[in-house]
Amino acid sequence: MSPVTDRYAVIGNPVAHSRSPAIHARFARQTAQDIAYDRLPAPLDGFVATVEAFRAAGGKGLNVTVPFKVEAFDYCTHRSARAAAAGAVNTLAFRDDGVHGDNTDGVGLVRDIGQRLGFRFEGARVLMLGAGGAARGVLLPLLDAGVARLTIANRTASRAHELAALAGDARAAGCGFDALGSAASGEGFDLVVNATSAGLDDAAPAVDEAVYDGVRLAYDMVYGARPTAFMRQAGARGCPAVSDGLGMLVEQAAESFFIWRGVRPLTAPVYRDLRAELAARS
Ligand code: ATR
Repeated sequence: MSPVTDRYAVIGNPVAHSRSPAIHARFARQTAQDIAYDRLPAPLDGFVATVEAFRAAGGKGLNVTVPFKVEAFDYCTHRSARAAAAGAVNTLAFRDDGVHGDNTDGVGLVRDIGQRLGFRFEGARVLMLGAGGAARGVLLPLLDAGVARLTIANRTASRAHELAALAGDARAAGCGFDALGSAASGEGFDLVVNATSAGLDDAAPAVDEAVYDGVRLAYDMVYGARPTAFMRQAGARGCPAVSDGLGMLVEQAAESFFIWRGVRPLTAPVYRDLRAELAARS
């Protein structure tokens, strides 16, 4: 590493299994950018202190992961519209005029679904399962992509209603899982996105499987070496295309890289590498 190498990292707890260093190393090689990108573990009560030490040592930017995305939002002096809508920040850029915060998760989701998977958002009827931080993070980019309708369904219905109200868009509506079996599913969906954390226990969200009838794509925001429980559920019901969120991870990283370096890396070869690595480990 030369003395002028710009330093970046992903901060989180835990962060040991993050794939971000491998992704950014590939982006840097591909675009001939002189950067170093590490993992930065922080104690649960030590986000700000860890960030400040990294900045003091000359760090230029950070990706932020669980559980610090809201703290990162509070820490910024400048926030993008995407970050404001998400209420959370996954990308920090340290600049002369302060700390810039952005959120690239939603654009990562939309690019992966729209470009790699070839799904047309314009006019689509979208069902999002979950109403937590992950769901909120992708709300605005989904609406901006031109969907006709965005139904947010959550195990706890009140959180879905709150999130739909927060979107402030007539196309967004919230409901509980129980309401999906009847009215909402009667209209059908083109795309279902799983933004719940049910998959952490290898469980699928407990929705009436009839919601998958007629769906063209079922997309899980988490990823793994094997199909997730949600993907298996949608596939078993006959959904013609299912995907995990590995491509979203690569796309959100590419947008962060662009924010920092002003260069857009190619994502397809990086996605292929990561997919092969994951498969080799299973
Ligand atoms: P995240 O940042 O991952 O979104 P979160 O803000 O804690 O984390 O939100 C977790 C989301 O997953 C919520 O929508 C939660 O539903 P509730 O609001 O009803 O708790 C959802 N979730 C977690 N476990 C679930 C499960 N087993 N089945 C369905 N939904 C689940």
